[in-house]
Amino acid sequence: MCGIVGYIGKKEKKSILLDGLKELEYRGYDSAGIAIIEKDGLKHFKAVGKLKNLRDKTKNYSSSGFGVAIGHTRWATHGKPTELNAHPHLGEYSFVVHNGIIENYQEIKDELEKMGVTFLSQTDTETIVHLFEKNNSDFKNPFNSFKQTVSKLNGAYAILLITEAEPESIFFAKSGSPLLIGFNEEDEIYFASSDTPIIGKATEVYYLEDGEYGYAKKGEVKLFDSSGIEKKILKKPLPTDKKMAQKDGFRFFMEKEIYEQSQVMNDCMIGRVLDDRVEFEELDKSLFENINSIKICACGTSYHSALTGAYLFERLAKIPTQVEIASEFRYKEPLLQRDTLFITISQSGETADTLEALKMANRAGLKTLTICNVDNSSIVRESGSAILTRAGIEKGVASTKAFATQTMVLWLLSLYIAELKGNISKDRLNRELNAVRKVPKVLIVTDRLHDKIHRLSKRYLHGHGFFFIGRDIFFPLALEGALKLKEISYLHAEGYPAGEMKHGPIALADSELFTIALMPKSLHYDKIKSNVEELSARDATILAISPEEFELADDFIRTKYSSHAMLEFFEMMVITQLLALEVSIRLGNDVDMPRNLAKSVTVE
Ligand code: F6R
Repeated sequence: MCGIVGYIGKKEKKSILLDGLKELEYRGYDSAGIAIIEKDGLKHFKAVGKLKNLRDKTKNYSSSGFGVAIGHTRWATHGKPTELNAHPHLGEYSFVVHNGIIENYQEIKDELEKMGVTFLSQTDTETIVHLFEKNNSDFKNPFNSFKQTVSKLNGAYAILLITEAEPESIFFAKSGSPLLIGFNEEDEIYFASSDTPIIGKATEVYYLEDGEYGYAKKGEVKLFDSSGIEKKILKKPLPTDKKMAQKDGFRFFMEKEIYEQSQVMNDCMIGRVLDDRVEFEELDKSLFENINSIKICACGTSYHSALTGAYLFERLAKIPTQVEIASEFRYKEPLLQRDTLFITISQSGETADTLEALKMANRAGLKTLTICNVDNSSIVRESGSAILTRAGIEKGVASTKAFATQTMVLWLLSLYIAELKGNISKDRLNRELNAVRKVPKVLIVTDRLHDKIHRLSKRYLHGHGFFFIGRDIFFPLALEGALKLKEISYLHAEGYPAGEMKHGPIALADSELFTIALMPKSLHYDKIKSNVEELSARDATILAISPEEFELADDFIRTKYSSHAMLEFFEMMVITQLLALEVSIRLGNDVDMPRNLAKSVTVE
């Protein structure tokens, strides 16, 4: 969680930091802050809430000449979202920004307090700057003091520290949270927790590994590994295309991303969907040798695509598949067997729980594969193999196109494994591939559909709750539909397997309970129909989504595609996304940055 940026050079530093933080604001927006050391000394500014507040607060300030600068946008973990708890945190003469969690901060804080240090905030981060200054009063050597400080920290961190004791340097360290350094020919140096803030500014990048730390000053970066040995920095070219990150006239990034799904699905399929088979160039076929089962681990929306994938793996590839929520998996003392392929799914590639689950699987000697949207992310780097979903930068906090492409990759992977293991007939494979090719068309949002959902949405702004119900692969879609709605509308919504309603939840049914019924024609239509009838008999308000007219529905959205369950799945997915979007807009919420959420959850 949180986003950090840093800069060393001659340009105006406030705008570099604020522009960089704008790119990271989706990672957390409880507060933001910047600190700059230039010839006139140390300056810092903090503001609670979105970045705009910090921009307003700094409008009369601009930096001049060579200097060093760090900035942070926060998603609160320790302490409320207040100005005192906002980063950068100040010692006597140094500032720190930090992404992650220092697990042993209380211990360090207690010791420092005994020595007379006063803490201003409730954060774990503030301990870093005080420990650094305490060390520096002993060593009188800022870099050694920083090194000593980092060696005392347990937990996850990406840290940037600046100090008047060495005013031309930024000290940095990384363990468990992402951090990169950007370089260009003007001898400027950039830091950031992901590459978007530095695209267009730096031309080359280095992604730090866990345990690495060092210092940067005018045109020079020194990097050390966890055992203190100096490392050569192997820079990579940085992508230059940032146009995907703009809103293109849509009201919200989420809306734009829903509309983009058709195009990104094409990108996701290119080179993978061949005439008569599926190919993943990035995979070595030996990955599947001696594999008798699959375990998928993920969180949130990615967990929902994992659940969908499990139906497909079992149905098409005939391989037993289990799905686990990563935060549960980590602590359940799981029994891991070497003939299990361990798959993680993550849009950001930085989710702490998923990353840790993956590390556990690696330690247990399992083969690991990740399905991820961000190349070079921590999860991609930790995983034995990776398939990129190619959804492009997703800025709306509520995931849409990342979910769509994850589900497509899982469908393709199930066909790939099915063929590899000889578990699918040529005929069935062809039928599946024909359906796969139709998906980009299914995902096109028509004005008619969007208008209809816009009109309908006004009837769904109140009530005591929503139940999204579905069966089979439409059950994970129901979970996902409910999650989308609750994330951005703040209305209570649950996803349920339709057949389970009568085992308890149906007790809630009355006219103020809204049921969003996913009623595909190609899969268990009669079964779901009876489940919805049961709800209708208890006076629940029903919004039916189906290609088949349903007379008991209070509202009805007719779908087109019924020849293959996955086509119905993707068509209904778009409908549930648009419904959440329109309800949220009508309620006046910030669709792209819903309260209490962040795009990348790098704390457990
Ligand atoms: C919801 C959403 C989250 C994420 C979850 C895992 O719209 O985006 O539920 O899916 O936080 O994140 P990733 O996929 O980045 O591992």
